[in-house]
Amino acid sequence: MLRTQVGIVGCGPAGLMLSHLLHLAGIESIIIENRSREYCENRIRAGLIEQWVIDLLKDTGVGERMQREAMFHSGIHLNFSGGLHYLNFKDLVGRSVAIYGQQEIVKDLIGHRLADGGQILFEVSDTSVHDIDGKAPKIRFKHDGAAQEIACDFIGGCDGFHGVCRPAIPEGVLTTYDREYPFGWLGILSESPPPDDELIYSYHDRGFALYTMRSASLARLYFQCAPDEDIEKWPDARIWEELHKRLGGVRKLQEGKVLQKGVTPMRSFVTEPMQHGRLFLAGDSAHIVPPTGAKGMNLAFADVRMLSRAVAEYYKTGRTEKLDGYSQAVLPRIWKGQRFSWWMTSLLHHFPNENAFDRRRQIAELDYLTSSRAAATTLAENYSGLPIDECG
Ligand code: PHB
Repeated sequence: MLRTQVGIVGCGPAGLMLSHLLHLAGIESIIIENRSREYCENRIRAGLIEQWVIDLLKDTGVGERMQREAMFHSGIHLNFSGGLHYLNFKDLVGRSVAIYGQQEIVKDLIGHRLADGGQILFEVSDTSVHDIDGKAPKIRFKHDGAAQEIACDFIGGCDGFHGVCRPAIPEGVLTTYDREYPFGWLGILSESPPPDDELIYSYHDRGFALYTMRSASLARLYFQCAPDEDIEKWPDARIWEELHKRLGGVRKLQEGKVLQKGVTPMRSFVTEPMQHGRLFLAGDSAHIVPPTGAKGMNLAFADVRMLSRAVAEYYKTGRTEKLDGYSQAVLPRIWKGQRFSWWMTSLLHHFPNENAFDRRRQIAELDYLTSSRAAATTLAENYSGLPIDECG
C-alpha cells in the first residue's frame, strides 16, 4: 500500500499543477493516470493562457521554456462584414494572453514534478475512489498488473469530464447545469505559417472560423461544423477550401501539410458543489466550457490554485474553513468563465434555428464591440483573464 497526503487522479494540467503547488507548500502527493506519459504529453488541446497564468508559471518556477517559446499577444482580430477589426487588449486593460500549447505546459510540469522527486504512475487501470466520507480516503487501481491502493488524507479529482471521481459522489449531492451546442469545431494543425501574428475570430455566412497558431511555422485552424461531423468526409483539400472561404479575403492563407485533424463537440457544464467529504473536483471533472475564448485550462488552474491553498492551510493550522469553502470560492469565477464562453460562442456561431434578425443582431454586436471602447473593454477584460485575487 502506498501512502501520501494528497492522492491525485489525472495527469492533465489540473492534476499536475495541483501536485506542483502542493510540493511548493511542502505537501506530498501522488498522481495516477490511466494513459501513458507519451499520450499526455502529445494530447492536442487549446493553447491560450491568461496573463495571470503566464505569471503563475513564471512565479512558481515552471515558466522557463514558456517564456522562451510562447507567442505573446497584444489582442485579437474580429473578422466580419468583409473586414478585420483589431481589439488591442494591452491598450484596453493593460494585459493580454499568450499562446503556449496545453501539451507543452503538461510536458514542462511532468518534467518538473519528476525532477523534484514527485511520483506519477502512468498507465494504471480500474481506478476507483473509496471512503471519501471519512478521514482516510483511498484510491484503488491496477498498475503493472497488480492491485494497488493509495491511502491519503485528501483526493484531488482531476480526471476530466469522463473520469471516475465525479460519479463516485453519492447520488443527490451534486446539481449539474449544462447546455449542448448544435455545432462543433473541425480543427487542424498545419505545417504552415499562420495567416496573421494575432488570432483571427471570423464571423462568416458559412459559419464561424478561428485562425490561431502554435508557432511561426505551425498554424492551428478551426471552423464550425455539425456536432457529429464525419471527419472522413473532410479530405485535406476540402478543409482548405472551406478555410479559404471563411477567411473572407481579408488575409492570405498559406496551405501546409495537415499534421492532425479532429472534431470537437461543444458543451457548457458545471457541477455544484465541487467537493464531497475529502474528494475535491478540479478542472474538467467539474466544469466544461465550449472552446471559444479558450478558458478551459485557465479555469482549471484557478481551481487548483485555490485548492492547494486550502490544503496548505489545513496542514499548517488544522483549520478546514478554506477546504469547506472551496466550491464557494471558485464557483463565481467558473460561472463568469461560463458566461463569457457562452457569450463569445453565441456571438460568433450560426445556430440552426436562427433567422435573419439574429444575424443582423450579431453583426450589430460585433459592430458595437469594435466601435465602443466600453464594449471592447468588457471583452478584453474577460479574454485576458478576470483578476484572480477575487477568488482567493
Ligand atoms: C487555440 O490556439 O487552440 C485556441 C485559441 C483560442 C481559442 C480556442 C483555441 O478561442
